[in-house]
Amino acid sequence: MYKINDNYLKLPGSYLFSTIGRKVSKFTEANPDKKVIRMGIGDVTQPLAPVIIDALHSAVDEMAHQETFKGYAPDLGYEFLRSAIAENDFKARGCDISADEIFVSDGAKCDSGNIQEIFAADNKIAVTDPVYPVYVDSNVMAGRTGTYDAAAGTWSDVIYMPCTAENGFSPELPSERPDIIYLCFPNNPTGATITKERLQNWVDYARREGCIILYDAAYEAYISEEDVPHSIYECEGARECALELRSFSKNAGFTGVRLGYTVVPKDVKCGETSLHALWARRHGTKYNGAPYIIQKAGEAVYTAEGKKQLGEQVAYYMRNAHTIHAALTDLGYTVSGGINAPYVWMKTPDGMSSWDFFDFLLEKANVVGTPGSGFGPSGEGYFRMSAFGTYENTLEALERMKAL
Ligand code: MLT
Repeated sequence: MYKINDNYLKLPGSYLFSTIGRKVSKFTEANPDKKVIRMGIGDVTQPLAPVIIDALHSAVDEMAHQETFKGYAPDLGYEFLRSAIAENDFKARGCDISADEIFVSDGAKCDSGNIQEIFAADNKIAVTDPVYPVYVDSNVMAGRTGTYDAAAGTWSDVIYMPCTAENGFSPELPSERPDIIYLCFPNNPTGATITKERLQNWVDYARREGCIILYDAAYEAYISEEDVPHSIYECEGARECALELRSFSKNAGFTGVRLGYTVVPKDVKCGETSLHALWARRHGTKYNGAPYIIQKAGEAVYTAEGKKQLGEQVAYYMRNAHTIHAALTDLGYTVSGGINAPYVWMKTPDGMSSWDFFDFLLEKANVVGTPGSGFGPSGEGYFRMSAFGTYENTLEALERMKAL
């Protein structure tokens, strides 16, 4: 008999957002007359910007003609997109990243799940707690996390770095040395940021200890304050110890379009082995590239008109974030995030558990959020509200919460 990868059997329950989706479906089936407002998963609601739609249409037309038709995309992505990324996301911020260090993909979720494949199974990972569940679950699937303690909600071989109100939701350096460090700033789920000085400490630590940092900057476009780094490559030495994951989902509304990229600098080496070469080998073997049409849409993000339209889209969601933050504060909740990120992180009232508050809010206000404990044990007693809804729905949800 063949054997399955029984690491999958160790995974507790289902993926967080699938569990929430099922609970909400059950509720709507039982209550068809209730209008549920979704502020759970960070999925965008605004239509694609006109500049993106134009780029998509014109790329589709190119596919209709012999002279401009495109088949397989180049392994690492089209040069036009990789150059636009290198120029705008990195060189414009003083980061020394070149186009051939950028690997275009169909999204940061896939990349953050896949990237662990190029590391040995006995590497030890460190994650912030709470954390975007993909980092941990993909390492469980790879057999890297040991055994699960259901009561504590932790894995024996994972180093958890608590992010609490006391440390401003920004992790301290771990007391035990990890091999692979996952960092995400602006943070999902807490909406917290990290200062450049603190991020530089992480880079120094990784270089000193021989660790690799996997830096997820999917929410970079939402940074509004000074001294918040947009990329880890703003830190000295990061080219030697960090990979960066980026997404077009949140800055350009591509959750249903799919586009992202990973930066693998050529200076990141494990002994003599270049991680760039490994990821290129993996990409070439297992991936045929994001479609031409989508990469053309990605290129439009970096045009002057694209920057203007998408800046307005980000501002639209950030108005929601500020509104949620202000309204929940007025209602007496303890609230953070929502300033440099489209997530507001609130403490549940009266010591309620995260899932109890989820059920309470769904039943009494027909509003969906995300239970903090779904992101890790330090998320217990917290709740995440997404700012990616429409403004009208956001206002209505807050009115309903006011009436509770
Ligand atoms: C979230 O809600 O945490 C995100 O939308 C999930 C994702 O980007 O995959």
